[in-house]
Formats: sequence, C-alpha cells, structure tokens
Amino acid sequence: MDRHKVKRQRLDRICEGNALARGGSGSDPAGTGIRPPIVNGPMPARPLVALLDGRDCTVEMPILKDVATVAFCDAQSTQEIHEKVLNEAVGALMYHTITLSRQDLEKFKALRVIVRIGSGYDNVDIKSAAELGIAVCNIPSSSVEETADSTLCHILNLYRRVTWLHQAMREGNRASSMEQIREVAGGAVRIRGETLGIIGLGRVGQAVALRAKPFGFNVIFYDPYLPDGVERSLGLQRMATLQDLLMHSDCITLHCSLNEHNHHLINDFTIKQMRQGCFLVNTARGGLVDEKALAQALKEGRVRGAALDVHESEPFSFANGPLKDAPNVICTPHAAWYSEQASIESREDAAKEIRRAITGHIPDNLRNCVNKEYLLLAAQWSSIDPAAVHPELNGAAAYRFPPGVVGVAAPGLPEPAVEGIVAHGIPSASHSAPHTPSPGETSKLEPDREISAD
Ligand SMILES: NC(=O)c1ccc[n+]([C@@H]2O[C@H](COP(=O)([O-])OP(=O)(O)OC[C@H]3O[C@@H](n4cnc5c(N)ncnc54)[C@H](O)[C@@H]3O)[C@@H](O)[C@H]2O)c1
Repeated sequence: MDRHKVKRQRLDRICEGNALARGGSGSDPAGTGIRPPIVNGPMPARPLVALLDGRDCTVEMPILKDVATVAFCDAQSTQEIHEKVLNEAVGALMYHTITLSRQDLEKFKALRVIVRIGSGYDNVDIKSAAELGIAVCNIPSSSVEETADSTLCHILNLYRRVTWLHQAMREGNRASSMEQIREVAGGAVRIRGETLGIIGLGRVGQAVALRAKPFGFNVIFYDPYLPDGVERSLGLQRMATLQDLLMHSDCITLHCSLNEHNHHLINDFTIKQMRQGCFLVNTARGGLVDEKALAQALKEGRVRGAALDVHESEPFSFANGPLKDAPNVICTPHAAWYSEQASIESREDAAKEIRRAITGHIPDNLRNCVNKEYLLLAAQWSSIDPAAVHPELNGAAAYRFPPGVVGVAAPGLPEPAVEGIVAHGIPSASHSAPHTPSPGETSKLEPDREISAD
C-alpha cells in the first residue's frame, strides 16, 4: 500500500467520530484558487489541529482534546498532507522536518496558527504566513540547556578526542606503552587559555558561554544585533566584526539563527580568515556552513576538526555528501536539542500555545508569536472602512486582501458541539482595540534585523 494512502487511513482513524465532516472555514469563496488571508474571527466549535511531521500526539491530546480535534499527518512535505487537513486545519504543530514555503502555506485554506515545536523557525516563511493571516509561534525556551550541553560535549570531544579514542579501542588498538598512548591520543589539546568564539549570543549562545568559562576558555562573541552592554553582564569580550572573531578564535561555535542574510556564513572565504588548525562546531543550522568548503579545509588541515549536529541536507547521511571522506569530523543527527524532559516540555508548551490561539485572540494572546509585527503590518488599518468589517470579527486582524480578491467570508460561526463533546472555553469574540503599528515600530523590520521571538 502506498505511503500516502497509509497516512490518509491513519488520519481518518484518528479523526473518526469527530467534527471533521463539518464544513471548513475561511476557504476560497470565490473559487479563485487563490488562498485568501484568513480573518481573525470566532473559531469553529471544534477546530481541527494537525501535527504535520510527526505521529505521536499523546502529550498534545490531553491539553487540546476539549477544544479541538487533533490529527496527525506524519508528512515530510505538504504533498503528503491529507486534504481534510489542508482544507480545514485551523492550527498546525510542526517539528523541523517539514518546510512550509509560501506555496505550501497557500495550500492551507483555514489555517490561522502554526506552532513550531522548537525554537528555530527557519523552515517556515513567516512573512508570507503573516500576509496570509497565519500567526507563527515558536517555543524559544525549548532545549536551551540540552543544546548548550550538547555543544560543550562536541567542543570537549574535539579537544579531548573521546570519540576517536573510543573508536581506536573498538578497532582493537591497545595503548599499553606511552608511545602508543601518545599516538592514539594525538591531537588532544589543553583547554585552559584557548579562545572560544561564539557566533550568535542568543539563548543557546549565552548558555554555552556560561558553561565554557569554568573549563578555562577565554570566551569571545560576535552578534551584531545585540545592544551594547551584554558583554559586560556576561563578562565576555565582544568582537566588532565577524572577521575579528574568526581571526581570534581557536574554536568557533555557531549559535545564530539561520536567515536570508547568513546562509553559508562559513564558506571558503571566511574559513580562510580563521586561525590555521582551528576547530568548528555547529549545533545551530546546517545552512550556515558550506559543507563542501569545510570538507576541503578539513582535508587540507586548515580546520583541525569539526563537530556538526546540523547539516545542509537532513536527514544526514555520510554517504551522500561532501563530508563522506573528510577527516576529523564528528556528525550527530540534529539531536542536540533532545532529552526526554525537553521533548515533553516543548510539546506541552506548543499545545498550550495552540490552545491560547483557539480560546483567545490571535496574536494578542499568543506568548511567542514570531511574525506578530508582520501580521500587524499586513493589516492595513487605515484603508479599511470599519463598517465593512464583519460584525463577528474581533477587529484585531482585518487582513489586507491580495489584489483581485474582493471579499472573504468570515470564518464559520461557532457550531453546536458534537454529541458527547463539550467545547469548553471558546469565548465570544473579544473586542480589544486594534494595534496600529507606529512609524517607530516598522523600523524593527529592517531587513538584517531579526524579529525577536517574544
Ligand atoms: N541542533 C539543535 O537541536 C538545536 C536546538 C535548539 C536551537 N537550535 C538552533 O540554535 C540556534 C540558536 O538558537 P537560540 O534559541 O539561541 O536562538 P536565539 O534567537 O535566542 O539567538 C540567535 C542569536 O543569533 C544572532 N544572529 C543572527 N544572525 C546573526 C549573524 N549573522 N551573526 C551573528 N549573530 C547573529 C541573533 O542576534 C540572536 O542573538 C538557532 O539556529 C536554532 O535554530 C538548534
């Protein structure tokens, strides 16, 4: 049986007996095929929430079951997502293993909120989402400690060569004499006095800095987006340019978010600015490193060793990439974030964010909406005739219609609860005053400035 069919059957099973047969909301009333922006009105009584790229909803279900129908898709692309979800899902939960481009987002006809179960949201086009009236949220607290701890494991591994020593033992090497120990542990370096260069001093970068200091690292960082003074609070040395950081570091560790400005930040040109024989660690995002250039630098010994948790192409396989015959590289499968506790916490937090979206007001009641400013900009308050706003709308997100789309029906009014299911906590539309972005606020959207998660 083909993979898609199996998934559809699974989804049907999960949703059996629930409110899926109801008509969707916010679909394309004019039959234009163009996905109209979703207006922020009352939710259907039991809206559909779908986990896009996973199948275990056991943590999410108890948090959402009284206000939503929860389904899973286990998809790797939107082509694998069931039509019911595309037409009716109001909320989507997702990990990092699926990408939502504008084209993908346009396939969802009723979606109002996406929650990334994790902190990075580079796999969602958040600006397009805002233009389509979809709020995107992340879970910024998720796995900060795990990712920082994993980063330190990688750094220590490069300095103390634990993985290679273990491998040598596995291969039957015996290190009985001093000479043999010297040989098998060759390349191990004392940490005290070494300079660790952190690129991106956000949540994880700061946690790495705090952990690295007690080992004796001299910690420096480069992050052009942080205000002056962070270096004083944390007792770190700030580098004014990326080149300064590259030139002064013995080990470079990446902790910036991936965005349209820093793809292949580490490339042949920037590698040549690094100290001869430095180490490189990446637990941030694979797209930050040009793996071909890194492989070449490892082969030539310009980079002495690298430890990578994230890769340009994931799921990672040594067999199909430029790193397959590069020496001194340790790769892990984008698992730096994982611990049982972190996984459960972030799933709970993500489900609670969806719940806030369903029972509250989007985006005002969301804790971590990462495209809030784009959402507010997308709303052209000044050009909207208040009388034209549907009375059911709560007024906080009367989104601009794309050219050619003259009108969009308000999402369905609350429907009666399905027998045996009480839709608790679905409020009547609140009437909070719309927030008009001030001229000062728009400056936060300068192209090379990241939008804060909070
Ligand atoms: N491997 C994993 O399992 C895992 C787990 C958690 C987070 N991450 C990734 O780790 C990274 C850091 O996460 P975080 O929660 O600390 O994010 P964050 O948003 O708190 O911090 C990112 C920092 O990078 C800075 N930055 C952006 N572009 C930069 C650039 N070009 N040069 C220097 N600094 C730049 C920002 O100003 C910000 O301070 C993200 O890419 C995230 O996706 C990976």
